[in-house]
Amino acid sequence: MKLILLGAPGAGKGTQATRIAEKYGVIHISTGDIFRANIKGGTEIGKLAKSYIDAGKLVPDSLTCDIVKDRLEKDDVKAGYLLDGFPRSLYQAEELSKFADIDLCLNFEVDTALIMDRICGRRVCACGESYHVSTLGGKTTCAKCGGELYQREDDNPETVKARLDTYNVMTAPLIAYYAAQNKLATVVCGTKTPDEVFEAVCEVLDKLD
Ligand code: AP5
Ligand code: MG
Repeated sequence: MKLILLGAPGAGKGTQATRIAEKYGVIHISTGDIFRANIKGGTEIGKLAKSYIDAGKLVPDSLTCDIVKDRLEKDDVKAGYLLDGFPRSLYQAEELSKFADIDLCLNFEVDTALIMDRICGRRVCACGESYHVSTLGGKTTCAKCGGELYQREDDNPETVKARLDTYNVMTAPLIAYYAAQNKLATVVCGTKTPDEVFEAVCEVLDKLD
């Protein structure tokens, strides 16, 4: 199974990616996570990516595509993978088609009015889990691994606005791009809980198996 998860910032890509990876045994590849790991490690990639991420803009296409191409050459993805947050531009989608044959693009449709609260209330763990403050009941550690929860640096109202603009201009056209290839499935999230969204996702994915 080779999947793309598409959706605005805060749509729930990461939340669903963790569940899909666990249930279907596919490798979760998040370009955002890769960049954040590089920033944390102080690498050259991290230094370059940080200025773009802080501004809510896309990290340059060529660098991002090279990273994904290298990642997809590793043996562990042979049984399947899901790309969380890649591609994010028509250029990236065209490049991806040269080195990968994707089965499906899952598009998460979410009301933009919900996004600001979702993202600004998000707390994440280094293990990949993410939570919302409203459901944590004051807890500051991860229920899965016990790690300390923290807030992402780009999860502030100003950067979220910029990320949404970037999504609308650069990424939203991919919905039509994958629909034209009959490779698009849209999950309308509305006010569904993560579990309810996952149920809808499984309905789609079970037909692929
Ligand atoms: P990235 O890390 O991919 O961030 P993003 O796309 O902005 O998306 P988020 O991770 O913020 O949201 P999500 O959809 O994963 O939502 P989540 O599940 O966490 O990218 C960051 C930056 O890196 C980019 O801005 C860019 O600069 C750079 N970058 C990355 N990829 C790139 C690429 N391909 N090209 C160029 N640059 C790139 O959920 C959000 C919150 O909502 C959480 O609190 C969660 O608990 C909650 N939640 C989730 N689902 C529900 C639900 N159903 N109901 C209620 N709450 C929910
Ligand atoms: Mg994410």
